[in-house]
Amino acid sequence: MQIIRDADALKREIAALRADGATIAFVPTMGALHDGHMALVAEAKLRADQVVASIFVNPTQFAPTEDLSVYPRREAADAALLDAAGVAILWAPDVETMYPDGPDATVKAGPAAEGLDGAARPGHFDGVATVVARLFDQVQPDIAVFGEKDYQQLAVIRQLVQGLKLPIEIVGIPTQRDADGLALSSRNAYLSEEERTAARALPRALGEAAAAIQAGADVAETLDKARARLEAAGFDPIDYVALHDAETLAPMAVFDRPARLLAAARMGRTRLIDNLPVNPA
Ligand code: PAJ
Repeated sequence: MQIIRDADALKREIAALRADGATIAFVPTMGALHDGHMALVAEAKLRADQVVASIFVNPTQFAPTEDLSVYPRREAADAALLDAAGVAILWAPDVETMYPDGPDATVKAGPAAEGLDGAARPGHFDGVATVVARLFDQVQPDIAVFGEKDYQQLAVIRQLVQGLKLPIEIVGIPTQRDADGLALSSRNAYLSEEERTAARALPRALGEAAAAIQAGADVAETLDKARARLEAAGFDPIDYVALHDAETLAPMAVFDRPARLLAAARMGRTRLIDNLPVNPA
């Protein structure tokens, strides 16, 4: 696997991969890789001849109060994992290479960015849309693979690709979880043992609420109950527990079409997000 940090070198090496007519699948990440990321790489391997992964901790998607400076960085270990998984190129630019004019979010995310994390983290999805647009331009993939763990992000990226008419197929991969149900996340490393145990309430509350809504329970009441469970487990604050249209991400008061149940809440100093599909029988 080649580790590339220079934009011209990347262009050359992508052209060399392409010269043989190879298709390219791309997996963008911020590093601190876990089995969730590696599931995306495995899917990318199945879907294209060559896989390009990126590691870039993107400053424009972190608010000034967020965890940019302490975000875990483990590039050597990450590179070993990607190499073993058969990745051809690791694109690992620095901030100056990605943002020669300074780190500024120059792309505005579409309507899928409204509400939920878009409301809780103002500007976050503009930062994501900006960096993903730049990464797509640099890597020029045929396919790009993202996790459903960040469901709203996936919707924002689908809109970005549609809006710019980019010839890139966006593939979403189901959330990979630990044995206790907690969604794998680089941020889980911030949880103490006690917090980690309490945090199991998040997937459990979502699982029960999804089943209840599917079985016909009142949506608002069920969401209130789930919120109360999270409060009882020690989550504080709870940014949202909400049911939205699975495609448009518009809020849903009545469950009459494919939906997504989404939640974000803080356990100690760690903000966790999770979501589940809720489909009419
Ligand atoms: P990061 O948080 O590193 O996640 C990279 C990719 O891995 C995203 O598509 C995310 O949804 C996916 N992922 C994370 N945890 C997962 C899990 N438990 N199961 C399945 N997939 C999982 O998301 C970002 O980075 C950034 O916003 C990025 C898109 C790279 C732009 O900076």
